[in-house]
Amino acid sequence: MQDEDKKIVVIGLGNMGASLARGLLNHDFPAQHIHLVYRHAAEAEQFALSFPDCSLSTFKDAVRTPASFILALKPKDTLDLCRRIASSMDTAKSLFISVAAGISHQLLQDNLGSAAVIIRSMPNTPAAIGYGMTGLYTNESTVVSYRHKAESILSSVGKTLWLNDESALDAVTALSGSGPAYLFYFMECLQKSGQALGLNNEQSTLLTLEMIHGAAKLALASEASFAELRSNVTSKGGTTEAAINSLSSNDLQRLITEALNSAAERSKEISQSFQ
Ligand SMILES: NC(=O)c1ccc[n+]([C@@H]2O[C@H](COP(=O)([O-])OP(=O)(O)OC[C@H]3O[C@@H](n4cnc5c(N)ncnc54)[C@H](OP(=O)(O)O)[C@@H]3O)[C@@H](O)[C@H]2O)c1
Repeated sequence: MQDEDKKIVVIGLGNMGASLARGLLNHDFPAQHIHLVYRHAAEAEQFALSFPDCSLSTFKDAVRTPASFILALKPKDTLDLCRRIASSMDTAKSLFISVAAGISHQLLQDNLGSAAVIIRSMPNTPAAIGYGMTGLYTNESTVVSYRHKAESILSSVGKTLWLNDESALDAVTALSGSGPAYLFYFMECLQKSGQALGLNNEQSTLLTLEMIHGAAKLALASEASFAELRSNVTSKGGTTEAAINSLSSNDLQRLITEALNSAAERSKEISQSFQ
């Protein structure tokens, strides 16, 4: 493999770009193959401190030779960046992985050039600690080697799932992309309710956190469905049943379906606003 095939250029070192760069280093991608793009001297200093062994350059120097580019800018900045890349280099031999919500594969292709290889991804914030869940989409013309390359990059910050249909990225955004916030909201509610029952803040926080952590680990380790796991701990006439009856009589399923539909709709609206 030539060096240009190994080079990974990260543009946009915010939450997601920095998490990906960190994940790659933690997964033994050699630092000398990870290249970070800075815009001004203060940023260069900050990146050099956070990622001491990675190479750094301005945009102009980063887009001279083919590489795998991670585009980790806000959606509103992503197309402008694509146009700048396309006017600076031959994009034909490079891979472009976009994490931007709502910017379609076709729009990325239109702005990067028809020969650029493009993969869209929808990660989530646990990627920052290596427990991300990322949906991936590309079109039929992308050859397997590029798919593998993108998968190995995104796998460095968690699990990946390929989607055959680009529109499924709206559902991924609604479920796992935005999902950590729903769970944090649920945890907030549990914590407050624990306090209302007489626990102090520290006790209620610890019980909430460890319960969620343990339940997720149990579900991961088990072959049983979520419904079976629930039923296993819900004895007839017991305390869990009393709480589950209360949740289902308030139609928790309907509330969650509505919440995910709202997120998916919003994701579609954002995509349409860029057309
Ligand atoms: N955070 C998430 O949970 C999440 C999940 C899935 C997908 N995403 C996607 O990830 C992308 C980035 O989100 P984020 O939360 O990481 O945003 P962020 O923290 O704002 O990161 C974007 C970074 O890009 C920098 N930037 C802007 N223009 C640039 C340019 N021309 N060259 C180099 N750097 C540039 C910004 O710097 P300044 O702030 O100085 O402008 C900022 O540091 C978004 O498109 C979002 O849809 C995020």
